[in-house]
Amino acid sequence: MVSLTEKTEKRLTIRTEEISQDTTAIRSLDWDRDRFDIEFGLQNGTTYNSFLIRGEQIALVDTSHEKFRQLYFDTLTGLINPQDINYLIVSHTEPDHSGLVKDLLQMAPEITVVASKVAIQFLEDLVHQPFKRQIVKNGDRLDLGKGHEIEFVIAPNLHWPDTIFSFDHQTQTLFTCDAFGMHYCSEATFDEDLKTIEADFKYYYECLMGPNSRSVLSAMKRMGELPGIKMIATGHGPLLYHNVEELTARYRKWSQNQAKPETTVGVFYVSEYGYSDRLAQSIINGISKTDVAVEVIDLGSATDLQELRELVGRCSGIVIGAPPSAGDTIAQAALSTVLGSAKEKQAIGIFETAGGNDEPTYPLLNKFRALGLHIAFPVIQLSETPSENIYKQCEEAGTDLGQWVTRDRSIKAMKSLGADLDKALGRLSGGLYIITAKKGDVSSAMLASWVAQASFKPLGFSIAVAKDRAIESLMQVGDRFVLNVLEEGNYQTLMRHFLKRFAPGADRFAGVRTQPAEDGTPILADALAYMECEVVSRMDCGDHWAVYSTVNGGRVSKPESLTAVHHRKVGNHY
Ligand SMILES: Cc1cc2nc3c(=O)[nH]c(=O)nc-3n(C[C@H](O)[C@H](O)[C@H](O)COP(=O)(O)O)c2cc1C
Repeated sequence: MVSLTEKTEKRLTIRTEEISQDTTAIRSLDWDRDRFDIEFGLQNGTTYNSFLIRGEQIALVDTSHEKFRQLYFDTLTGLINPQDINYLIVSHTEPDHSGLVKDLLQMAPEITVVASKVAIQFLEDLVHQPFKRQIVKNGDRLDLGKGHEIEFVIAPNLHWPDTIFSFDHQTQTLFTCDAFGMHYCSEATFDEDLKTIEADFKYYYECLMGPNSRSVLSAMKRMGELPGIKMIATGHGPLLYHNVEELTARYRKWSQNQAKPETTVGVFYVSEYGYSDRLAQSIINGISKTDVAVEVIDLGSATDLQELRELVGRCSGIVIGAPPSAGDTIAQAALSTVLGSAKEKQAIGIFETAGGNDEPTYPLLNKFRALGLHIAFPVIQLSETPSENIYKQCEEAGTDLGQWVTRDRSIKAMKSLGADLDKALGRLSGGLYIITAKKGDVSSAMLASWVAQASFKPLGFSIAVAKDRAIESLMQVGDRFVLNVLEEGNYQTLMRHFLKRFAPGADRFAGVRTQPAEDGTPILADALAYMECEVVSRMDCGDHWAVYSTVNGGRVSKPESLTAVHHRKVGNHY
């Protein structure tokens, strides 16, 4: 079985085009990329877009993925002598756009890097040599001459913590990097064909921007203060020109819908410490799975303490990250304010990055406990470079916290069926299965009974997976997993094991007999049968995803035995 990830030929090409006055797009086309981040399957490849603006001085906006090293620099040097570039604007430091910053600075050490404060700090680690820099804040301007005055808009968390947008007043082009982008690779530089791109535009929003919908709305508010945007030059996919109004309106609508949940959790951390941004983002992803709004505050720049007090007051849960060190007076004052405004019955969770002289975590947790807050997850401590498992632990911790703050809502929803309907629905029954999945170093499992064959050709079936399940992140389009069938009369041990409440990041297979499938996914040795499957599509069904998958192979260990069947009395439980 050849999966997408094993494709042997990866096509990489580059296209350049004049997109407006003095402005050239350099688009690296990654036709076959089929995976982005841990949980984002792609169907139409992607692009990494970089831009050259030639005023009297010359600026390059972002670079490309390092896999384009040769192609990108061949193209760039065909357009300009890199030593003639005055500024490199780094919209954010994710490697797919900043992967070649180091090479460029080696080629042209006189370039001044323009970026947010956090991005510059991150680049120092990446570049390992002194470089010229200009830190920009919201509203700052950089005059390149010939009317190309670039104004910066801070847009944290879209989708990277250190993101800035850059607006060229001459061409009225807004360079947004990840925001308003899509993973869609084609020769078309622009968005003229809305029908073909809108599904990818939405999917991208849901995966990357949806969890930060409040940040989207804040950034769009700042965008509204610019004098009129004719073009949005994104970092991925076609640039928005023909549908700027329509597609930005969709972002606003989706974000307003997303931002609606009445329950809010505040995530307060110091973004400058080590990996705190990445850990916070994983926790936010986990919280967002439970349909809770998240507000993210950087304690290092939270100066309006009254606003902070109000926010903490209306939060149902609080996450504190990388508690600030004693010398960090702004962050310390902000943390004291959070502590001073916290109240009984809120949930609290703390994570710590290897910051050395951070305020000790456990005494801080005890202060919150003494105030009557509920500890939603054990302290997460990072002592080394984060692994995929730490990110998964953070995500699951976030989900646990989200589930706790919405527990009343969930109970109410369960009670709201009429008695007759409840019983009628209860007559729908299914088998008993354990889904097992592994992605990189991360593995997970869950008991499922909402499983049904859905097609003969190809061989396929659907599983309803609750949106806040731990395993949900390992069941994205393109992911592989195993469906283990439990045996009638012999399922109790496995069922009980997998129904246990696992701590965030716990190994769900400890003590369970397994053997690895071809791709390493654990197959349960005591299952009646198993099938190796691949997720093809997912349909949004309210509180569940209907995950449609095809079957690539399978075996029955005891041909005489039957599948365990699950009969229920009522329809508002599994
Ligand atoms: C009989 C039974 C059937 C279940 N079927 C499903 C299912 O089809 N889909 C689902 O999302 N959860 C189902 N669950 C719930 C999960 O198995 C279980 O609560 C989950 O493993 C715990 O959540 P977590 O994995 O996110 O920690 C079922 C639970 C029981 C008891």
